[in-house]
This record gives sequence, structure tokens and C-alpha cells, in this order.
Amino acid sequence: MRSTLTFTIFLITILPHVIIVQGQSFSPFSSALQTLQKQIGYNFTNLNLLRRAMTHASFSEENNKAFSIVGATIIESTVSFNLLSKDIDISAKELNRKLSLISNVDSSCAVDAMNLGLHKVVRVSPKTNTSSTAVVCGAFRSIFAAIAIDKGNTDSAGNVFLNVHGRDLGVYAAM
Ligand SMILES: *[C@@H]1O[C@H](CO)[C@@H](O)[C@H](O)[C@H]1NC(C)=O
Ligand SMILES: *[C@@H]1O[C@H](CO)[C@@H](O)[C@H](O)[C@H]1NC(C)=O
Repeated sequence: MRSTLTFTIFLITILPHVIIVQGQSFSPFSSALQTLQKQIGYNFTNLNLLRRAMTHASFSEENNKAFSIVGATIIESTVSFNLLSKDIDISAKELNRKLSLISNVDSSCAVDAMNLGLHKVVRVSPKTNTSSTAVVCGAFRSIFAAIAIDKGNTDSAGNVFLNVHGRDLGVYAAM
């Protein structure tokens, strides 16, 4: 009788944990997505878009490959628009130089990605290095495509980029 009671208490104690661990919305990945939304200051209407942005091609057919291409163009157009707004006489050469710095995988987007801790969030196959610049930059860029699709425009995505990267559009020293 006593052992039955002990077992019942054990079950009552353990069951909620089992349910929470199995529940999709309480998985470590899902809670990482919640944290990421706080970090970037944007709440998704459709969280599946952020889920996809944080999924590398090595992990699933539903991945961020196309997102990362669109995200890169959003970053480029946001940065060019900003530079041109600040200095309407900026030379093509200077604009291109600044654009290539900000698009640079090693000096810029990997730093932004690591600051957000994306290497701890992005889902990859066991053989893939989550800290490689290609993986973290792909995930970082994909965030902005995901926001654009979520919002139905690219402006919000550009603003989130400026908030995350810094509105001075500075670039970091090479890693
Ligand atoms: C996102 O949602 C959280 C919780 O509902 C809220 O506290 C936060 O202000 C929201 N952030 C934005 C940028 O709307
Ligand atoms: C993963 O990539 C990072 C960044 O390129 C590198 O520093 C690290 O050594 C790599 N780790 C492994 C296990 O290859």
C-alpha cells in the first residue's frame, strides 16, 4: 500500500514533465525561437516562417536556402537606401564598397549571427558545423525573408535588420 502511494506520488510528479517535454511547443527549439523573437524585437504571426529560417538544408527539405537569398537582397537594398538617403551624392564606388563590407560573410553577417547566438538555434544534420560562417549567415539572412513574408512587405524586415545590426551601418573588424 505504501509503495503504491509512493508510486502514485512519483507519477504525479513526473507526468507534467513528460507531457511538457513531448509537447511540440515546449521543445528546446521552440523556446529558442521565442527567445530569438525577443532578441530581434519582432513577433511572428506565422512562427513556421522563423522555424524554416532556422533550418539548414542539411536538416530538412523544408529549409532556409531560398530565404537566405531573399534575405541577402533585403539587407542590400535596406543598406543602399539608407546610405543614399544620408548622402545623395555618394559615389557608386563608395556605395559598392560599403555594400560589399556589410554583405561580407566573415566580417559582418557572421558577427551579427553569432551575437544572436544563431549557431545554437539553427537546425543542421549531425555532420554539419553549426558555427560555420555559411550556416550562421544563411540563418541570419533568412530571418529577414521570413519577416518580409510574415508582414507582406520588406520594410519591416529592413527595420529589424537595422535594429539588429546597428543603424550606423558600421562593419566589424574581420574575425
Ligand atoms: C512580443 O510579444 C511579447 C509577449 O506577448 C510582448 O511582451 C512584446 O512586447 C512583443 N514584442 C513586439 C516587438 O511586439
Ligand atoms: C566550426 O566552424 C567554426 C567557424 O568556422 C570553427 O571555428 C570550428 O573550429 C569548426 N568546428 C569544427 C568541429 O569543425
